[in-house]
Amino acid sequence: DAPEEMEPRPPVVTIMGHVDHGKTSLLDALRSANVVSGEAGGITQHIGAYQVTSPLGGKITFIDTPGHAAFTAMRARGAKVTDIVVLVVAADDGVMPQTIEAINHARAAKVPLIVAINKIDKPDAKPERVRSELLQYEVQVESMGGETLEVEVSAKAHTNLDKLLELISLQAELLDLKANPDRAAEGTVIEAKLDRGRGPVATVLVERGTLHVGDIVVAGAEMGRVRALISDKGSQLGSAEPSMPVEVLGFNGTPEAGDRLAVVDNEARAREITDYRKNQKREKAAARSAT
Ligand code: GTP
Ligand code: NA
Ligand code: MG
Repeated sequence: DAPEEMEPRPPVVTIMGHVDHGKTSLLDALRSANVVSGEAGGITQHIGAYQVTSPLGGKITFIDTPGHAAFTAMRARGAKVTDIVVLVVAADDGVMPQTIEAINHARAAKVPLIVAINKIDKPDAKPERVRSELLQYEVQVESMGGETLEVEVSAKAHTNLDKLLELISLQAELLDLKANPDRAAEGTVIEAKLDRGRGPVATVLVERGTLHVGDIVVAGAEMGRVRALISDKGSQLGSAEPSMPVEVLGFNGTPEAGDRLAVVDNEARAREITDYRKNQKREKAAARSAT
């Protein structure tokens, strides 16, 4: 076989950190600072993942699910969708249990960390203390002589947001992220729900290949034909490339967060796969209730 044609793809970034350290605020700030006025949907759209444009050019994909039950489920099932973890530590609170959990998660997944020391607008902010606390967990930031990229930010005052995006782009360049867009799509379901008007809606991160309207897809025990693809900005797309988050409409049932999505050749094949998986699920459930 000829080797696959690999092309650069945007990094996929997850923001992690302790409760109330500002993960959601930072994601919202990054997105609103980046919204081009007049863009369909603007910041009112709330899908679990979105893309912004880096000041250094190119896109960055953020996943907005840490701490979520769905993300925990994805982690438990070994889904590895993240290229880079941004570790948010509040400068007034310092390293806390979920900070340590995030460090361990990134390490186990062999994903590089970027430290964002948040809330530096606060009068009681102690960024130096955060740096030395991180050392105890073997996270050595650049200003402490280490190699971990770091930036002091304020999600509230919108301080250093471009700097954070630049660091992500720099880290991504080192990772040399590539995917083949010219093949049947594969991806991961980030979240999924049953929408009263639209039926099952799955937010999917495309990892390889290009997903097209009309494709026959399977995800976990569910199948369907892609009826519509909707971007994070709320616009209808004909297709979605690697590292793009997209809402997929057209599933017959609602898949689960963490399910792998794949495009198959025809409906008969899709039914074969999903019938088998539905059976497996039933057998597992029966085995559980028998013990
Ligand atoms: P969970 O999702 O509950 O774990 O919290 P989170 O990490 O998403 O934190 P969130 O963004 O909800 O922020 C928690 C609180 O901190 C809110 O009251 C925010 O307004 C506040 N906050 C977030 N970032 C900043 C900041 O840069 N400066 C200040 N002063 N407050 C901030
Ligand atoms: Na919060
Ligand atoms: Mg939050």
